[in-house]
Amino acid sequence: PETGCLSIIVLGASGDLAKKKTFPALFNLYRKGFLQSNEVHIFGYARTKISDDELRDRIRGYLPQRKEDAEDISKFLQLIKYVSGSYDTAEGFQALDKAIAEHEISKNSTEGSSRRLFYLALPPSVYPQVCKMIKNYCMNKSDLGGWTRIVVEKPFGKDLSSAEELSSHIGELFDEPQIYRIDHYLGKELVQNLLVLRFANRLFLPLWNRDNIDNVQIVFREDFGTEGRGGYFDQYGIIRDIIQNHLLQVFCLVAMEKPVSIKPEHIRDEKVKVLQSVIPIKDEEVVLGQYEGYKDDPTVPDNSNTPTFATMILRIHNERWEGVPFVLKAGKALNSRKAEIRVQFKDVPGDIFKCKKQGRNEFVIRLQPSEAIYMKLTVKQPGLEMSTAQSELDLSYTQRYQGVAIPEAYERLILDTIKGDQQHFVRRDELKAAWEIFTPLLHRIDDGEFKPIPYKPGSRGPVEADELLERAGYVQTHGYIWIPPTL
Ligand code: BG6
Repeated sequence: PETGCLSIIVLGASGDLAKKKTFPALFNLYRKGFLQSNEVHIFGYARTKISDDELRDRIRGYLPQRKEDAEDISKFLQLIKYVSGSYDTAEGFQALDKAIAEHEISKNSTEGSSRRLFYLALPPSVYPQVCKMIKNYCMNKSDLGGWTRIVVEKPFGKDLSSAEELSSHIGELFDEPQIYRIDHYLGKELVQNLLVLRFANRLFLPLWNRDNIDNVQIVFREDFGTEGRGGYFDQYGIIRDIIQNHLLQVFCLVAMEKPVSIKPEHIRDEKVKVLQSVIPIKDEEVVLGQYEGYKDDPTVPDNSNTPTFATMILRIHNERWEGVPFVLKAGKALNSRKAEIRVQFKDVPGDIFKCKKQGRNEFVIRLQPSEAIYMKLTVKQPGLEMSTAQSELDLSYTQRYQGVAIPEAYERLILDTIKGDQQHFVRRDELKAAWEIFTPLLHRIDDGEFKPIPYKPGSRGPVEADELLERAGYVQTHGYIWIPPTL
């Protein structure tokens, strides 16, 4: 591992993302010993004029509140310094550079190093100017070696052309290996498990194709609405907020071919290929919804056409998947909170048990909550009679991995940026291919040509979505529900 000075700079330090995600993730890394050398420094940068202690107090509220954490927390907070300045003038960034540089020629360091990680917890509209300021004033000191990396968050643009514009602005300033586009779904344990499951198990290899799989669902449900984020959300909608990024990344890992190796570039090459094989989405294979009451939020316009729910079918034109619908579904204010991948197999040919009505085999990867991988299958009902029943082979993480804490997505991803591993980050051509899929549909929604159907908050969403699912070939198993095991 690299040694020497590491500076982590959180731009937008007083914003929501920084407080809720970035600093808590840094704290967890600190606690696990990853940031404990006395050569690690954390800087917060934002416009507000506050003191170091004021920033620390704001962050403290989002860190664990248990007594036994108090000592770690106060040590961690002492690592954080605050610099205030605007996002588009030299002075602030010069001051930031000075503050960072002060530590880099460390007295107790034999080999100086200048590793600088800039985390842009900012709205994308300011990315170009902030990147320019970093490039002009804050790059690592070349005589000390090291590197400069920048971490950016979605939304990366609003459609293909705005995303490409953003990419080229940033691309003029930084090389691709310096740019880390975060999609936090790629940091989730079970999303990371997909490659292993698919390519390290003989069991799945011959089954994972159009000959055996009938349909695939990738589902995200939340049981709360936009809650205070209406202003942001209304500009984007559920497709840009969840489907174009989080669900599409999962889709890639489910559908892509086997990469040459597990090197980041090999994996990302395969993701791009499968995205490029997706054929245009058909109108009749899209259902949009908007929950009743969404427009009551004062930051949402009364005539908003923004979907808070969407179900759509993606189809892949290749040898493995031709004809298999991939149903992507996401919604806010629904009746439950969960994210899962559900792979439904075809019926058994020549069925002698007449078990079709009891349900098909399904392979389910429950991303959250209650992480689990389970396989639904038909077994003999225990007892004297020869009858069949639905059951499951269940790998539930809380049960199987007792006492193992699953790391937070952001924690893992920030560690990757420090290590320089881009496997779980979105490459520029991948992003472009993702926008190509959704842009025509998004433009039609933005123009008001495609309207969301109202649905009741706390419901399953519009019934039309269930009808679409049925048309896609999904067969629901009635009378069978998987219950997450409790300890
Ligand atoms: C964010 C979206 O990217 O992901 C939010 O902007 C959403 O709208 C969140 O609530 C969901 O993340 P998670 O990790 O809670 O599933």
